[in-house]
Amino acid sequence: MTEKDTTQTSESEIAVHWQEEDYFYPSMRFIAQANMTDPTIYDRFSLENFPNCYKEYADMLDWDAYWHTLLDTSDAPCWKWFVGGRLNASHNCIDRHLAKNKNKTAIHFVPELEEEKIEHITYQELFVRVNELAALLRDFAGLKPGDRATLHMPMSAELPIAMLACARLGVIHSEVFGGFSGRACADRIIDSQSKILITMDGYYRSGTLLDHKKNADVAVELALKEGQKVDKVLVWQRYPGKASSPTPMVAGRDYFINEELKKYRGQRIQPVSMPAEAPLFLMYTSGTTGKPKGCQHSIGGYLAYVTGTSKYVQDIHPEDVYWCMADIGWITGHSYIVYGPLSLGASTVIYEGVPNYPDAGRPWRIAQELDVNIFHTAPTAIRALRKIGPDEPAKYDYHFKHMTTVGEPIEPEVWKWYYKEVGKGEAIIVDTWWQTETGGFLCSTLPAITPMKPGSAGPALPGIHPIILDEDGNELPAGSGKAGNICIRNPWPGAFQTIWGDRDRYVQNYYARYCKDPKSKRWQDWPYLTGDAAVQSQDGYYRILGRIDDVINVSGHRLGTKEIESAALTVSEVAEAAVVPVAHDIKGKEPDLYIALKPGVNAHPDLEKRISDAVCNEIGKIAKPRKVWIVKDMPKTRSGKIMRRVLAAISNKRDVGDVTTLANPNIVEEIQAMMRK
Ligand code: WT7
Repeated sequence: MTEKDTTQTSESEIAVHWQEEDYFYPSMRFIAQANMTDPTIYDRFSLENFPNCYKEYADMLDWDAYWHTLLDTSDAPCWKWFVGGRLNASHNCIDRHLAKNKNKTAIHFVPELEEEKIEHITYQELFVRVNELAALLRDFAGLKPGDRATLHMPMSAELPIAMLACARLGVIHSEVFGGFSGRACADRIIDSQSKILITMDGYYRSGTLLDHKKNADVAVELALKEGQKVDKVLVWQRYPGKASSPTPMVAGRDYFINEELKKYRGQRIQPVSMPAEAPLFLMYTSGTTGKPKGCQHSIGGYLAYVTGTSKYVQDIHPEDVYWCMADIGWITGHSYIVYGPLSLGASTVIYEGVPNYPDAGRPWRIAQELDVNIFHTAPTAIRALRKIGPDEPAKYDYHFKHMTTVGEPIEPEVWKWYYKEVGKGEAIIVDTWWQTETGGFLCSTLPAITPMKPGSAGPALPGIHPIILDEDGNELPAGSGKAGNICIRNPWPGAFQTIWGDRDRYVQNYYARYCKDPKSKRWQDWPYLTGDAAVQSQDGYYRILGRIDDVINVSGHRLGTKEIESAALTVSEVAEAAVVPVAHDIKGKEPDLYIALKPGVNAHPDLEKRISDAVCNEIGKIAKPRKVWIVKDMPKTRSGKIMRRVLAAISNKRDVGDVTTLANPNIVEEIQAMMRK
């Protein structure tokens, strides 16, 4: 039966149709100032030198007590790094910089409203504010080392202050992305058994002051229904002393932090000296099914890894102004807005709002005003800015030395726009591939050492040793032209320790697949399954095709959705493309192609044909879309990810489910109506 045949095609037979791209090289100017220019770093971090190589990252931190065991594998696959060591993350991100840099800006907070002043918080001020909050959390909220506190905060200076105050006390923070609902927050409160919720009354998004406090009420109520009582809700006011939310405070439960803090003025809290392998935070990541998984990250291993990678991959120097436009509610923000940059003593930018408010020039005005020289964002934002303001960057006088793309594969066309227009041909780009679970980067070029290749994440980082396996566990060598399941052969310090409260699920999801001996205590027996499909080219560079389930099987021919989307983007009028599988009697699946056009371009049957032809030309007839749907906008999450799941439901005439949390829920109806015509 055809149906059966297609489902049995193995991962190793995913067709790979990417064309090889040319290398781009860093400028001499970049190389001359780079933190890491020594190619022997790859030898220092080779498998033969594993795990000792990671001493180099550990030594970037201040330790209260130095560790005795670098890697303890006795509880495999729950790895323990730097055992015996004691340290405090807030000390490493703040106190240790004071002697030389107390007057330096740690955080630039940029409010969304352009007429509001940018707040510049020095390391000394950060120290004072974190200490006072830590005193409040300890003495008023009753938090002790090892307790969990849920944070449901928007992009604000108060968010890292809350994280670092928890870290100072050894309290495990669990920040829930501010755009998530009260329900989502409740689920995470319940799972982490938090008794304290820290939130903010309101924040700006696209020019509107949103009522955020109401989510706290919903979260606390729903959590209580499932047996988790939140004792105190601590609310920052967006404007201290002034209400930004109409939702009333609940007496005896809700407290304004800025009011309570007055009682703690001048207090200093000694950073609690914590074991290296104690948890620093939980970061929940939701699968498409099942309850969200609380990825548990350690203090010592995690902080060492994000510090090392921020230095070598992000090339952060203390004098840099670094802006990562992600949200701190995601792992990118934890690792590469807060912990990595602050551990290195840099100035990190936190922007409250959306990139296109009030217009597409906003990011570049911020870059100009703060003289940002390192910029970090995701393909979705790059595509959006390319769509609405392709010529904006050139209008502003800023100069990046370094840019990052992260979060999904980037189409070479989009990469080149990023390079030429945003980077003005001066900035190097790193395409960093990693996950919530991995704490820090897995694959990326080292900017002064390995050249860039558009659309390719590059080689593995020093100390990361990937392997691509087919369904039967056979290795697919570099240059085989075949894609498979990319795994990491060795543990690394940034890797999550477990899923909070669910070790079995941790082992099952990430390690069981290719482990030959579940009793083994050797790390060599436990390859980490990333869940991504990838192909390695002859030069050793990895190209990530997306999640294993982002692969569409057409007549037994497996295509990465990214390949098709990338082909569509070669048509100059196309701003965004999203491919979803539609069930087909014979072929198994067919690709349906959704397209959003650049502003000023009108939909036209000719254009549909040109896009379809482009896909056939770039990949082959096998990838020909069933239909090219030109839509006004893509359904997107508030973090900007295109909701392919919703598009797939529309294409397959299934129930789209709850779409109220989308950034633009109305578009779903509009697309459905268009398809009925
Ligand atoms: C998934 C992880 C990494 C922090 C933000 C997302 C995809 C991530 C890349 C990249 C191609 C990428 C993978 C990965 N992904 N970075 N540079 N190129 N794909 O974290 O939400 O845990 O998502 O994002 O599919 O598994 P996340």
